[in-house]
Amino acid sequence: MRIGMLTGGGDCPGLNAVIRAVVRKGIDAYDDEIVGFRDGWRGVLEDSHGELTIESTRGILPRGGTILGSSRTNPYKRDDGVQRVRDTFEKLRLDGLIAIGGEDTLGVANRLHQDGVHVIGVPKTIDNDLGGTDVTFGFDTALHIASEAIDRLHTTAESHNRILVVEVMGRTAGWIALHSGVAGGADVILIPEIPFDIDEVCRLIRRRHARGRYFSIVVAAEGAMPKEGTMSVAQTGSVDEFGHPRLGGIGYALEREIEQRTGYETRATVLGHVQRGGTPTAFDRVLATRLGLAAIDAAHAGSWGSMAALHSTKVEMVPLADAVAEVRHVPVEEYRHFDVLFG
Ligand code: F6P
Repeated sequence: MRIGMLTGGGDCPGLNAVIRAVVRKGIDAYDDEIVGFRDGWRGVLEDSHGELTIESTRGILPRGGTILGSSRTNPYKRDDGVQRVRDTFEKLRLDGLIAIGGEDTLGVANRLHQDGVHVIGVPKTIDNDLGGTDVTFGFDTALHIASEAIDRLHTTAESHNRILVVEVMGRTAGWIALHSGVAGGADVILIPEIPFDIDEVCRLIRRRHARGRYFSIVVAAEGAMPKEGTMSVAQTGSVDEFGHPRLGGIGYALEREIEQRTGYETRATVLGHVQRGGTPTAFDRVLATRLGLAAIDAAHAGSWGSMAALHSTKVEMVPLADAVAEVRHVPVEEYRHFDVLFG
């Protein structure tokens, strides 16, 4: 078979492990030819590609990022987008395509499948917010980076008797904030799923002071929002091709507000893209490898329109439609379970 492959959306540690697994099994077990597209769907639209071989993918397993490059290009934002995808398939004599991505990339893959294009999905995102799978690779690495940062901020917060606000990624789902906050012993955790009350945030910090703890750690997901009308947060106003606003700013808004309201010295740290960079954890390498192997097997089984997913300890194929039906949010009761540890 001739199989295309692309990585789309925000990069995440483990993408190269998937690429390597697909290439190794595709070539060695099935005698396939594997074509790698540059920069996500842009490479398919513009036919920017290169053959992937065992030699060209050697040594990439522990490398962060993606050797294929990535972009947030949306073929459905171009009038002739689907036709250009079909043209590239025909020109390169592709039997199918493996798309490695999050809700946007897999949303496009699902629509292309409905339009009769042979695609298989592999879920990735540090945000861990895709449906159809228990967990996405990249999340574990981001979690380690964020909780290590929180540990470091803890010691300096304590030395200076300061409130330290840590802004982590998580557009609409608070998995990184909740898990890194719990792992790092945060005093307040704010997630996009539950609009926060700034009075309650300050109450928890003051209560700690009253108990003799003169420093606090506040972990906020970038998508955390105050209850309407309680506090202003600046927005950049720019959106990507999938309509997502560019976030960032809640950390500094909290820094100002907490310091003004409590009088305690407060500093913000925005972790940003550090969470997406660098080498994947062993867990993410193994998961990414398993998903890549399942995806190439699925191509040979003709399971187009499906996605490799982790269910408990098993990797299984699920319909792509399940993955993109809705964002996998942190359940409110899961958050509430931990709130006894706050303040
Ligand atoms: O989707 C993953 C993610 O890292 C989000 O957490 C974040 O909001 C977004 O990507 C950032 O995107 P960009 O790399 O385009 O700034």
